[in-house]
Amino acid sequence: MRQDARVTASWIRRPYAGPLPPAGLRMGGEHFQDDEAFVATAARDVARLEARAGLSAESSLLDWGCGAGRLAVGVKARLGAVREYHGVDVQPALIEWDRAHLADPATHFTLVDVANARYNPGGERAAVIPATDRSVDVFYAYSVWSHLDAADAAAYLRELARVLAPSGAAMLTCFVEDDVPAWQENPAGYGPLAWEGALHCARFERRFFESLIAAAGLAVVRFEYGGETDGQSLYVVRRSAGAAASAAATR
Ligand SMILES: C[S@@+](CC[C@H](N)C(=O)[O-])C[C@H]1O[C@@H](n2cnc3c(N)ncnc32)[C@H](O)[C@@H]1O
Repeated sequence: MRQDARVTASWIRRPYAGPLPPAGLRMGGEHFQDDEAFVATAARDVARLEARAGLSAESSLLDWGCGAGRLAVGVKARLGAVREYHGVDVQPALIEWDRAHLADPATHFTLVDVANARYNPGGERAAVIPATDRSVDVFYAYSVWSHLDAADAAAYLRELARVLAPSGAAMLTCFVEDDVPAWQENPAGYGPLAWEGALHCARFERRFFESLIAAAGLAVVRFEYGGETDGQSLYVVRRSAGAAASAAATR
């Protein structure tokens, strides 16, 4: 995992000396415990968003399931700032830390009290992304669909389609495989970890997940198999041609 940091350190353009979250608040994998990897993987993802989703300093960027602000650190370490960075999460301790240490006029965080069996079991039974229709140029969700049940996965893809700007793009990661059940929780013998507790690993059958993407009015423009944390795959999606046309017509 140290290799991750070495390989990606070149993505950092503005050496980052700002605050980093304490170990106990870092979500999403052992390798993020390493400070260098935490910053470098974030700067790498900002670079990937630039190359694959058109992120620029002028963009509005929604970091859904932002955790302890890893991508916000990456923005500061690579671009300095974007027009608007908006981090959203369901865990109060994380959003409190983010607000106290990373917020600035272009960087803000929202706590949403929606249910997730792993991260916020007592939350409201609703699937809401707090952003207005077609307002998001670039949407990022690293290791969030990897912790959703099938109903929420579909509902949040519809939410993504709602908030994405007509020319916007989203990059997300999740566990997908061919020839497995449509959705499974904590599949035994799968991946590098012994999955424990609700929604530690939510795995989708690839065609099923892509059918949810299509049903939401989105289209896959890029798929990279298995290269992300714990073997997750990466998708870049945009509005499908029909959905983009109807969004344009209603502007
Ligand atoms: C594995 S962590 C990834 C954190 C971050 N994306 C990163 O890469 O460092 C998943 C995050 O998604 C958040 N999350 C889960 N369900 C959510 C929901 N419905 N709305 C917003 N955030 C959610 C969790 O609280 C957690 O912080």
